[in-house]
Amino acid sequence: MKKLFALIAAIIPAVAMAAGGGNIHLDEHRTDLHDTASLQRGAQTYMNYCMGCHSLEHARYNRIARDLDIPEELMMDNLVFDTDKKFGALATIAMQTEDSKKWFGATPPDLTLVARVRRPDWLYTYLRSFYEDPSRPWGVNNVVFKDVGMPHVLADLQGRQLKGTAPVAVGFDTLTGQEITEEHEGVLYLEEQGSLSPEEYDKLVYDLVNFMVYVAEPIAVERERLGWWVLLFLAIFFIPVYMLNKEYWRDIK
Ligand code: HEC
Repeated sequence: MKKLFALIAAIIPAVAMAAGGGNIHLDEHRTDLHDTASLQRGAQTYMNYCMGCHSLEHARYNRIARDLDIPEELMMDNLVFDTDKKFGALATIAMQTEDSKKWFGATPPDLTLVARVRRPDWLYTYLRSFYEDPSRPWGVNNVVFKDVGMPHVLADLQGRQLKGTAPVAVGFDTLTGQEITEEHEGVLYLEEQGSLSPEEYDKLVYDLVNFMVYVAEPIAVERERLGWWVLLFLAIFFIPVYMLNKEYWRDIK
C-alpha cells in the first residue's frame, strides 16, 4: 500500500507539469472533429495564411479532401496553391530551411503533428496572444511563446493588440447588474480592431486549431467509431467466455 502511495505521489507532479506548461493561463479549445464545416474553414485559413512557411509534410491533399468532404476540383483550384502539385501529393513547401533561418532566426517547423506536441489549448491561446513589441524584429511578441520568431500573420484580421494596463471584468454588481472592472497590469487589449470582430477572430482561430488537431491524427474519428464496435464485441464475447469459464471449473471446484 505504501509503495502504491509513493508511486502516485511521484506521478502527480509529472502529470501536472506536462499538463500545465508553466503558470500561464491557457484558454480552452473544445475540439470538435465531427464539425466538418469548421474543419473546412480551418483548412482554408491554414492554406491561405500558414502554408507559405509551414508545411504539412505528413499529410496528403487527397486524404484531407476526402476526410473533409472537399471535392477534388475545389481542393485543387482553391486550396492547393502550388501548381506543380498533384492531388495525391504530400503537403510540402518549397522554402529552404537555410533561407528561413536567415529571415526569421528560426526555421518555421512542419506543423503536421504540432497539435499533439503543443496541445489544442496552447495553440488556441498562442494564435490569439500576439502583441506589439517594437523591440522585436517583426514588431510583435507572444505571451505563451516569449520572443517568438514568427510574425503575426493574422494581424490584418485581428487588429493591433497591445499588452499593458487595461480594465478587466472581475464580476457583476448584484444590485445594478452592471459589470465591475478593475485595472490590471500586463493584460492584452485590442487597441484597434482588424477586419474581424474579436468574436469572429476567436472563431477563425478555433476552426484553424480544429483543423490542426484533425491533421495531427486524421484517423481519430474513425478510431472512435471503431472503438464502439470493439466495446460491443467485447460485451457480447463476454457471454460465451463467461459460460466457458464456468464449464471448465465445474468439476474442479
Ligand atoms: C512568414 C512565415 C510564417 C507564417 C506565414 C506562419 N508562421 Fe508560424 N512560425 C514561423 C516561424 C519562423 C516560427 C518559429 C518561431 C521560433 O521558433 O521562434 C513559427 C512557429 C510557429 C509555431 C510554434 C511551433 C513550435 O511548436 O515551436 C506554431 C504553432 C505556428 N508557427 C503556427 C502558425 C500558424 C497556425 C500559421 C498560420 C496562421 C503560421 N504559423 C504562419 C513563421 C511563420
